[in-house]
Amino acid sequence: MSLPASDITKQADHLTTMELGAVLPASAEVRGDHLFIGGVDMVDLAREQGTALYVYDEQDIRSRLRTYREAFETRHQNSEVIYASKAFINKEMCRLVAQEGASLDVSGGGELAIALAAGFPAERIYVHGNNKTPQELEEAIAAGVGRIVLDSRIELARVSEIAQRLGRTQNVYMRITPGVEADTHEYIKTGCEDSKFGFTMREDFAFNCVEDVLAAPGVNLVGLHCHIGSQIFALHSFAEAIDVMVNLMARIKERYGLELADLDIGGGVGIAYAVDDQPATIDQFAQVTTDALLGSCKAHGVKPPHLLTEPGRSVVATAGVTLYTVGILKTLPGIRKYVAVDGGMSDNIRTALYHANYEAVVANKADQPRTEIVTLAGKHCESGDAVVLDGNLQHPDLGDVVCVFGTGAYCRSMSSNYNGQPRPAVVFVKDGAARVVTRRETYNDLMVCDE
Ligand SMILES: Cc1ncc(COP(=O)(O)O)c(C=O)c1O
Repeated sequence: MSLPASDITKQADHLTTMELGAVLPASAEVRGDHLFIGGVDMVDLAREQGTALYVYDEQDIRSRLRTYREAFETRHQNSEVIYASKAFINKEMCRLVAQEGASLDVSGGGELAIALAAGFPAERIYVHGNNKTPQELEEAIAAGVGRIVLDSRIELARVSEIAQRLGRTQNVYMRITPGVEADTHEYIKTGCEDSKFGFTMREDFAFNCVEDVLAAPGVNLVGLHCHIGSQIFALHSFAEAIDVMVNLMARIKERYGLELADLDIGGGVGIAYAVDDQPATIDQFAQVTTDALLGSCKAHGVKPPHLLTEPGRSVVATAGVTLYTVGILKTLPGIRKYVAVDGGMSDNIRTALYHANYEAVVANKADQPRTEIVTLAGKHCESGDAVVLDGNLQHPDLGDVVCVFGTGAYCRSMSSNYNGQPRPAVVFVKDGAARVVTRRETYNDLMVCDE
């Protein structure tokens, strides 16, 4: 794997940190020449805690969760926000989600275990996954989770068997692939027909399976679920999916006399990773989806259901940044300038995986314009290991602290120990104070499972 060819005609944008707008965590500010987040000096923090380091603006996460809740509740009172923990999870994040009155989406046993250990109420946990193991299903049912989102008929049989054995009745949703093409990267598109997820609508398969779910002992069908993909800017794709789902609900009502109580429409809005990105706001997302819901319900003659959304990225991505220290500089005239940092694809795989775009600044030169185009390379043994490809940066020097914005989602949760790299610590900052909520891994952690 190597990097895409450099665009050597690209011009630096000469923007200063505060001109990066929507890419920044809410509390980002520049004092003197240093970047501050949550009232904490990022340069001091990097020196105290070491780098690479994940830093989250706690208040920003809280206010995004609240914005989601209020945006939906004011438009459709019967609604619920479920934070998708795959975007970023640790125990403190689960506590924060509970404090903000949101529910939690977990995929598999590991995320469920973290949530339960944090004391998250089981009845507000939604369990996802296209291949939950029988053991994971048993753990979820035994814990008393609120909903299991059924992904297939095979899983239906497993849930039914386990629930009966444990003497439970498990509330479930059916995950439907609505056949809607969302305009996003191939790897994070999930609602189109060629998908490993959910019950397909082709040849009325999903509709025909409803009968099996209704007949299965130990299982109670309370709603439908769909998720068309992530990092979506075009809101009409959500409206299209909602109409497909409401139509299916209407057919279920007509055939079985069953009015399903819940409709879960999956993940939230996309976010601005680059200065030029113009995603919809949470309010616009809520407006379009609730309008679509109420309109479709009217058109198809169904009572408006309890509406659930599962945002992940838009709750934590912008609130989170990663700090690195510059260790090596290498300029290849006419080709590329490499700035190598003390992390890379082990703490952020998204750039290597889908050439994700990020904005970065030198935190100790945050008042200066970004006059250079550089590639922020990682320290790993892959040519494709980079965090930022041909991005703008202030003139870099050895020892500078670089802050990469927008790394709060799908970075820590997709991190690895490649090359024996211990995972970075996670720090929450708020009101001028920093607290470590996940400690940095040690070399010993790398061997802890070895015999
Ligand atoms: C089932 C499901 N729900 C919610 C999400 C969260 O999506 P997002 O992070 O785009 O809000 C995902 C992520 O892909 C998902 O797979």
